Amino acid sequence: MFSLATFFDFTLPEQASNHAPAVDSLYTFIMWVSVIGFIGLMGAMLYFMVKYKRRSEHDQVAYITHNHQLEFLWSFIPMIIFVGIAIWGWRVYSVMERAPEDSKTIYVTGRQWQWSYKYDTGVEITDDLIVPVGTNVKLDMTSTDVLHSFYVPSFRVKKDVVPGMRTKLWFNATKVGEFRIFCAEYCGTAHSKMFGYVKVISKADYKKWMDAKVYERANRKLTLAELGQELYNKKGCTTCHSVDGSNKIGPSLKGLWQKNRKLEEGDDVTADANYIRESLMDPRAKVVKGFAPRMPPYQGQLSEDEITQLVEFIKSIK
Ligand code: CUA
Repeated sequence: MFSLATFFDFTLPEQASNHAPAVDSLYTFIMWVSVIGFIGLMGAMLYFMVKYKRRSEHDQVAYITHNHQLEFLWSFIPMIIFVGIAIWGWRVYSVMERAPEDSKTIYVTGRQWQWSYKYDTGVEITDDLIVPVGTNVKLDMTSTDVLHSFYVPSFRVKKDVVPGMRTKLWFNATKVGEFRIFCAEYCGTAHSKMFGYVKVISKADYKKWMDAKVYERANRKLTLAELGQELYNKKGCTTCHSVDGSNKIGPSLKGLWQKNRKLEEGDDVTADANYIRESLMDPRAKVVKGFAPRMPPYQGQLSEDEITQLVEFIKSIK
């Protein structure tokens, strides 16, 4: 059945958070005001064009200076509508801006070009965010490099993620499922690859998942290479560097150790620890032939210990 309230739903993604119905109602209202306004305005214009068409050379236009009643109405009615939209918008916005006291905080980091998430248990994951259904979740977000924007269309939430600053958003996921996360701010070469899913699971599944992750974290005894692999996974390296020999935005890390590298300037260099270190800290210093200097520098983002772990990891990918 035709319904004013749901007519524009086909233009919108699925509703999957507490915010979605409120945002959509306001959106639908604005759409209808626009549609009715457009039809009314264009209709009146066409009608007047025909009705007041100049019929002959002697047609005289009546001299009308103003009409108080009309002028009042066409100012007052739109004002009521626009102020109404402003108040309505403000109410929806203030709910979105104020996370409930009992919210579960998850820390989000945006970097070129990956999202990572840290839970209060110390567990850290990348790309896909895992949250329990029906729970207030607050995201406390920052960036290690440039502006990003965390956007989940099905939740109707979007917030810039800014270096040197922390921004927040909150939601309560209303259904189990997987919902796209986008980066909605152009942030460089692989901006369009900076996506993932919010995986909403039942509270019981969430507890099981988190317990397993915490157990895994407590019981791990990792080698340097394994620690390096962990860094590779959570520092955004995977977006550009494969470990299977295929070249992505950057060269593959497979078989890199001690290999002879041809550079853009024509020199050769051996891929030793010093070269790897320099390529992490100042990636533009020695660019391998055939690749653009697109890698963001990791100066200040990796300790010497971490560089050692990455070197050991690269050594291990034969
Ligand atoms: Cu991050 Cu676009």
